[in-house]
Amino acid sequence: MSQPKVFITRRLPTQLEQLQEIASIEVWTERQPPPYEILLEKIQSIDGLLCLLTDRIDRQLLEAATSLKVISQMAVGYDNIDIPAATSQQIPVGHTPGVLTDATADFAWALLMAAARRVVEADRFTRAGEWRTWEPDLLLGPNITGATLGIVGFGRIGQAVARRAKGFEMRILYTSRHRCEPELEQSLAVEFVAFDRLLCESDFVTIHTPLSEDTYHLFSDREFEQMKPSSILINTSRGAVVDPDGLYQALSTGQIAGAALDVTEPEPIPMDSSLLTLDNVIIAPHLGSASRQTREKMANMAIENLMAGLRGDRLPYCVNPEVY
Ligand code: GLV
Repeated sequence: MSQPKVFITRRLPTQLEQLQEIASIEVWTERQPPPYEILLEKIQSIDGLLCLLTDRIDRQLLEAATSLKVISQMAVGYDNIDIPAATSQQIPVGHTPGVLTDATADFAWALLMAAARRVVEADRFTRAGEWRTWEPDLLLGPNITGATLGIVGFGRIGQAVARRAKGFEMRILYTSRHRCEPELEQSLAVEFVAFDRLLCESDFVTIHTPLSEDTYHLFSDREFEQMKPSSILINTSRGAVVDPDGLYQALSTGQIAGAALDVTEPEPIPMDSSLLTLDNVIIAPHLGSASRQTREKMANMAIENLMAGLRGDRLPYCVNPEVY
C-alpha cells in the first residue's frame, strides 16, 4: 500500500524521521510561504497538510481537497483557516496550544518594558552618536512597577502575563468573555472589569484575544479616545485586532503615548505604512513564540497532530472536535 502524502509548508525546527516512517513528505523549502495557487494544486492530492499562520486555508482550497484527512497548524491561533469549512468536510484541524504560552507572555513583557523604557529609541540614539553626556531628562518613560496593567483576553497567555505582572507590584485589571474563578482571580491578584473601564484606568493595555468577527478592530478610534494620554498599547495577539489607521492617529496626536506591536495588519507591515514614521511605536516581526525550545515543541506538537490524523486517530490538540 502506498504511503499517505503530506505537504509541509515550510522547513520546521525539528526532525521528521518519525513522520518519514509512515508518510511520503514534501517540504516547501523557500523562505516565503507557498503561493495560494501552489497550495491549491497540492491540496488535491495530499492526505495531510502541516501549515503555518501565513497560509490561507479557505473554503475554496478545502473544497478542492478530496483525500485530505488532517490539517495540522503549527501555531495556537488558527484564524487563517476556515474552520467551519473544514468541519463541514469532516477534516480535523490541529493546533499547538500551551507550549507557547510562556514564550509569548515573556515577549509581551519584553515589548512592554522596551516601549515604557524606550529601549529601541535609546539604541538608535546611541548609534547615531547622540550620547554626549548623562542628562537628567534624557529619554524618560513611565514607571512600570506599581502601574496599572489592563489585560484584554484572559486565556492562557493573558494569565501568564498577569503572573509576571505580580512581580512588578502592578494593579492588574482584566476583561474577557468569561470571568474566571474567584480562586484564580485571588491567586493572580487580578480584578475583572468592563472593557471601557479597563481602557480608562490602565497605564499599559496588553491584548491577548484571538482574532474573530467580534475582535476585528476591537481597538479603533473610540477605544483610543478612552485610553490615557500616557498609556502604552502592547499587541502580541493578531494584527487585525487593532485598526492601524486609528492607531496611527492616536499615536501621532498624543491620544496615547506609545505602542509595541508584534503583529500588524497586514503582515508583514508594508514599508510605506505611516506607523513606521513614528518614534513612539516598536514593531517586531511576529516573534511571540520565537524561543528555540518553544518553536521546537510547537513543531513536534504539530507533527503529533498530523500523525494522529493520518492514522485516523483523534488529534491530541484538536480545534474542531465536532468532527468526531
Ligand atoms: C502565533 O501567533 C500563534 O498563534 O501561535
